[in-house]
Amino acid sequence: MEKNTGYHVAVVGATGAVGEQMLKMLEDRQFPLKSLKVLASARSAGQKVTFRGEELTVEEATPDAFEGVQIALFSAGGSVSKKLAPEAAKRGAVCIDNTSAFRMDPEVPLVVPEVNPEAMKQHKGIIANPNCSTIQMVAALQPLREKYGMERIIVSTYQAVSGAGAKAIQELEDQTRAVINGEEVKKEIMPVGSLPKHHQIAFNAIPQIDVFLENGFTNEEMKMTRETKKIFGDENIAVSATCVRIPVVKGHSEAVYVEFQNDFEIDEVRSLLEQAPGVVVVDNPQEQEYPLALDAADKIEVFVGRLRRDLDHPRGLHLWIVSDNLLKGAAWNAVQIAEELVKSGLIEEK
Ligand code: A2P
Repeated sequence: MEKNTGYHVAVVGATGAVGEQMLKMLEDRQFPLKSLKVLASARSAGQKVTFRGEELTVEEATPDAFEGVQIALFSAGGSVSKKLAPEAAKRGAVCIDNTSAFRMDPEVPLVVPEVNPEAMKQHKGIIANPNCSTIQMVAALQPLREKYGMERIIVSTYQAVSGAGAKAIQELEDQTRAVINGEEVKKEIMPVGSLPKHHQIAFNAIPQIDVFLENGFTNEEMKMTRETKKIFGDENIAVSATCVRIPVVKGHSEAVYVEFQNDFEIDEVRSLLEQAPGVVVVDNPQEQEYPLALDAADKIEVFVGRLRRDLDHPRGLHLWIVSDNLLKGAAWNAVQIAEELVKSGLIEEK
């Protein structure tokens, strides 16, 4: 695809669950594109994807495929990013990487545009997109942290299977059908593809996302801890997480408890959240209105509700935070970073 004005963009992992949404976001946001390359593994080369009504041919992601590319959106797994993002950067592209490959690299900014947009100015060719659960949490907490200061966060997540990729969505659908039809349930993907033992996700809740570490937390839980500290630029903030996979296709939900440094008023919290960019407050318990994964699916905002003061801690607040993990949690945050790069003049039109 070639146009006269705009930017040369590539999407790596374009056939995957997040890659597909990256294409949708570029389309929905009318991102100024001069050209768009859709890249995936050799297995998919030659396949077609539709973009703005045009058929684009998937190419194999190789170092040379990045020749002339100005912005490369990566979501093809950590090993692909490790290998190809430096190659793309060497060829002049700014890589926005949705994997965990570079997130904790001190040379790589980890960016949520509502929280730390200034960090992206320091980039050296790679900008990391945080973990999905982290993005929605920090986007909602930022206005409260700015106002009251934040000492600690305790979060429990209820995460959708799409976070584990297209194969995980398929497994949930297949298992659900098998249970309803009284057939044998095949367990091949969840909780983590490469482990020898798997559990049924249909009609279940699995308290494991990614592998366990020596401290008893999972890698997903530690991502929330480390990434939150890095994005907030605050090593002293205490963050502990319990991450749970549930049989939902799209939309992560989070029960979040925070302790502030200073006193707060619930009404003021509500109004700060109502004014926050990218945040929508849905908090009307009398009418049974609160954020729901099904309502958040296919939307780019972060939804917040169930606001209530802790029963014992005077500076403790409980909230329920929901967002589409493939959009704000991945594809939208990445495209939003690309929009910010363009807006702030960090990339010139060719
Ligand atoms: P492919 O469809 O060719 O395997 P998901 O997270 O939904 O599983 O998607 C993973 C994405 O990453 C897919 O687009 C997949 O392409 C892509 N991918 C996987 N391995 C590679 C690789 N070695 N090089 C480039 N893209 C890859």
